[in-house]
Amino acid sequence: MSNTLFSSWTIRDLELKNRVVLPPMCQYACDDEDGVVGQWHRVHYGARAAGGFGLVIAEATAVVPEGRISPRDAGIWNDEQVAAWSQVTDIIHAMGAKAGIQLGHAGRKASTYPMLPEQPNGTVPENEGGWEPVAPSAISFGGGFATPRELTTEEVAAIPQAFAAAARRAVDAGFDALDIHAAHGYLIHQFLDPITNQRTDRYGENRQLLAFEVIDAIRAAAPAETPLIMRVSATDWLEDDANSWRLADTVELARAAKERGVDVMHVSTGGNVVTDIPTGPGYQAAFARTVREEADILTIAVGMITDPRLASYLVSSETADAVAVGRAALYSPSWPLAAAHTLGVDLGDPAVGRPKHYFRGTFR
Ligand SMILES: Cc1cc2nc3c(=O)[nH]c(=O)nc-3n(C[C@H](O)[C@H](O)[C@H](O)COP(=O)(O)O)c2cc1C
Repeated sequence: MSNTLFSSWTIRDLELKNRVVLPPMCQYACDDEDGVVGQWHRVHYGARAAGGFGLVIAEATAVVPEGRISPRDAGIWNDEQVAAWSQVTDIIHAMGAKAGIQLGHAGRKASTYPMLPEQPNGTVPENEGGWEPVAPSAISFGGGFATPRELTTEEVAAIPQAFAAAARRAVDAGFDALDIHAAHGYLIHQFLDPITNQRTDRYGENRQLLAFEVIDAIRAAAPAETPLIMRVSATDWLEDDANSWRLADTVELARAAKERGVDVMHVSTGGNVVTDIPTGPGYQAAFARTVREEADILTIAVGMITDPRLASYLVSSETADAVAVGRAALYSPSWPLAAAHTLGVDLGDPAVGRPKHYFRGTFR
């Protein structure tokens, strides 16, 4: 029997009630520039957990202060942040979902203005609360982004331990799963990609090395039963350019990542260079299928999956093991409940998890 959108699946020991995932989405919403999440995060994540997502993955959360994308981004480098995240995970669990967190470092795309109304693009200067971004090589993203400082070999070698400490803290905060941010042109993607990694040390000779060391450090620090997800950009969308990050590189990375203890590849695209991307419903799903088939690893597909029938088909056709629904869930926090209704799935099924208080919401 084929998998269905509303069927449970397991990653290591973690059972997820269905295959609808809330992908990480930055909220730029801490009350101060201290990385401590607050009321907005409790409401935002709680609503989506109550709305039926089996796995709610919290936004890119910086493992060190200089790894934040913008000054009010979430962090997980100290105990105060852990206490604040614990309140979020308690709510997610109480609403019947599992909680994941994306651990990240923005590298050359750190210290930027948040993507909020009336904010400029590019790097926040130091006299406005910004800081000097760092990267594998001193190459700017362009478009108002500062030229980053090239990290020394010793500095790079210390980064995996920052991820490991963050992983430990995330588990202490009650997260059930960890998601390594290796996508969208942030630090790990910058190291993987020849466009941004022109180093001559060991981290340039082997562009995957930092990703491997991060996986190994997290695996050593987190409990063996904690699922590890890796979010990647499958391609820079410059497949004809051997000097870019391409699907074949992602497959190779996925195989090696699996060997090192990554359980799921969360397959996105782009973000390291500005180029035209042919978007449309499910436009990244074919990349998830290739990774799933060629690396023999669980995958989550993402990208303009807004129609429940498309989501259902991607799972039943084994294009991916689960789908993530991002922007559509910003306006429809109960996207999974509504999808179950559209698809004619019994709302009382535990895989849907309709809150009992919404029982009277049944209509046809
Ligand atoms: C407001 C917003 C914030 C985002 N922040 C993150 C993030 O923190 N980490 C990440 O990997 N992707 C991030 N993304 C990308 C989404 O996770 C998702 O991959 C993308 O929106 C495509 O899926 P969708 O078409 O269902 O929205 C963000 C997207 C949005 C709209």
